[in-house]
Amino acid sequence: MSVAQLGIVGSGIMGSGVAECASLNGFGVVLRSRSQSTADSTLAGIEKSLAKAMEKGRLAESERDDALGRITATSDLSELAECDLVIESVVEDIEVKKHLFHELDRVCKDHTILATNTSTLPVVELAMETGRPEKVCGIHFFNPAPVMSLVEVVRPITASDETVVSAREFAERCGKTAVEVKDRAGFVVNALLFPYLNNAVRMLESGVASKEDIDCAMKGGCGFPLGPFALLDLVGLDTSLAILDALYGEFKDPNYAAVPLLRRMVAAEQLGRKSGQGFYDYRH
Ligand SMILES: NC(=O)c1ccc[n+]([C@@H]2O[C@H](COP(=O)([O-])OP(=O)(O)OC[C@H]3O[C@@H](n4cnc5c(N)ncnc54)[C@H](O)[C@@H]3O)[C@@H](O)[C@H]2O)c1
Repeated sequence: MSVAQLGIVGSGIMGSGVAECASLNGFGVVLRSRSQSTADSTLAGIEKSLAKAMEKGRLAESERDDALGRITATSDLSELAECDLVIESVVEDIEVKKHLFHELDRVCKDHTILATNTSTLPVVELAMETGRPEKVCGIHFFNPAPVMSLVEVVRPITASDETVVSAREFAERCGKTAVEVKDRAGFVVNALLFPYLNNAVRMLESGVASKEDIDCAMKGGCGFPLGPFALLDLVGLDTSLAILDALYGEFKDPNYAAVPLLRRMVAAEQLGRKSGQGFYDYRH
């Protein structure tokens, strides 16, 4: 099944990034937030991001106008009814996502594929909330979605081959490289990345070096574009903590047990770029 109209639920960092990326690649996008004011401000954020791309000469004015013209921002879930594919990208919380899949199953047409952008949670549990488990899979974009080239297509044991093929084709039409992964917490990238990020926080807590020097060391010594603390701030510390908790819950590997400092920072609402403060200060 070829996708023409995409629905996105959730307008945080990832929902807005996926909307931007898909509309730039020719898909009609219905972006659903919980309130119309958030939906409108998310659309304004996408407009700003496209204006920046234009300033840098990466986008023509007509391409920007076409991309914006393809996005509808709404607070009404039933506006997703005509979508061929819906990607859920709300907070990393299994109960919230389960409730949403139940609702999406009710409002979407029978042919619609329901996908999740979860970083770690069991996709099969979301599939079993619906009457169409064979049409549910993971489509995991990376942050920032318009820039990062990878998409993990996650195959729960309930998914049909047709669903996985359609998800892969959608990702490739968004200009991404798709890899297929089994439904295991963290898939490939986060299962390997998060022990590293968690151990960087442990290293900071034990006073081996400053955060600036650890970031500098990993950039200069490993060729990484961002050090671990800049990356944690970009991902969001709340999302990072939820990812570690899900990984630890599934594997009980001590490398996944979130370091106390990370949990304390989330309790203090120091969430990284999105709250203005995390390991670094973004308020100025
Ligand atoms: N941040 C990343 O780097 C990254 C990368 C890939 C995938 N993801 C995944 O994408 C999803 C969204 O993450 P994000 O980084 O965009 O988070 P975010 O905090 O920026 O946005 C979360 C969104 O969920 C909505 N939300 C919160 N509680 C809700 C509820 N009870 N019901 C409905 N909506 C609710 C918020 O309004 C917001 O729109 C998560 O599953 C996350 O694991 C995140």
